[in-house]
This record gives sequence, structure tokens and C-alpha cells, in this order.
Amino acid sequence: MKYYNYIEIDNFEVIQQKTLDFLVINDFLNTIGFSILPWKEYIEVCPELITAFDRYGIKPIATATYITTNQEQSPIHIDNLSHLRPLCRINIPILNCAGSKTEFYKVPLTEFDHFIQKNKLDYYRIKETSSYATKVSEVEIIYPTVIRTQEPHRVNTNMNTVPRVCMSLTMDKDPVFLLEDDCAFNR
Ligand SMILES: [Fe+2]
Repeated sequence: MKYYNYIEIDNFEVIQQKTLDFLVINDFLNTIGFSILPWKEYIEVCPELITAFDRYGIKPIATATYITTNQEQSPIHIDNLSHLRPLCRINIPILNCAGSKTEFYKVPLTEFDHFIQKNKLDYYRIKETSSYATKVSEVEIIYPTVIRTQEPHRVNTNMNTVPRVCMSLTMDKDPVFLLEDDCAFNR
């Protein structure tokens, strides 16, 4: 199974800089973990994000940050398990992502605790006592990257440069099709 793919997008560097500015100005850099950004306010600052994926015929409809400063903040998890939800998200590195790895694992589902989040979406986090995880893939998110968020994954943070700040996008169409070789841009 292919777990990730790098993709080219328009205005990558502009989006990185404007997003970082937005996070600094609005004091978001201290929000550890997954935080949904106020969409309207963000897009006013960074309208380039809306058209960045036009070559693939998809648009972002929501965005969030995933910020880590240590290893414990990112246990192996599954974002959700639902055929109604996308299999993939698109991540964009914003700050200090070099040297960190997003790791993918094979883990029996019985090894996870299941939670319902405030946003009503489910979430699966590996039990602290589990020893059944086998790493099957990893990617350094230093370019825009499609990743399978319905497979077990975690972020192995490069502790020499924190906070690690990544932006995670929900698209209007499941970007899983960008994992296919003929659509993909491999560096
Ligand atoms: Fe995740």
C-alpha cells in the first residue's frame, strides 16, 4: 500500500510564509496537537491556498495545524475510520518539519482506544501498553504531501527544532487518487 506522496502545488512558499505569519499574529504557535483554524480569517490572509491545487481539480475546504514539541504528543493514532470520511489529507510543512518523520504502522484494531471528539468525529489512539505496532513506512513532510490518515500513524518529532508545525487540509474531494503513480509527482 502506498501511504504518502509528495505533490507540487502553486505558491507553496507563499503559503508557508503567510500561514506562519497568520499563526504568529494570532498566537497559534503554542496550540499543541490538532487545532482547526478559523477558515474565513485564514483565507483572507492566504487566498493562494484556495487555488493551489487547481491542477488536480480539488480545493481545500478546511484547515488545521498539527503542532508538536515532544514525542509523547503524537502517539500512534487513526484520524477516523469511516467510509464517509476521506482516506487521505494533504499536509503542508510550515515550520521545523525537516528531520521529523510521519511514520505509518500496522497495528491490530484491538490495540486502540476509541474516542468521540468534540467535533463528533471518532478518533483511535493506541493503548499505552500496546507492543503490537510494526512500522511500515515513513515520510519527511518537507513538501506538500498526501498522507493516509485512516491508517495508523504518528509524528516522530525532530527535537532539535521545535515546535514542529504542519498544516493539515481537508479537501472537497478525497485526495487518495493522488497516491496513484500516474497522477503523482515523485521527487
Ligand atoms: Fe493524524
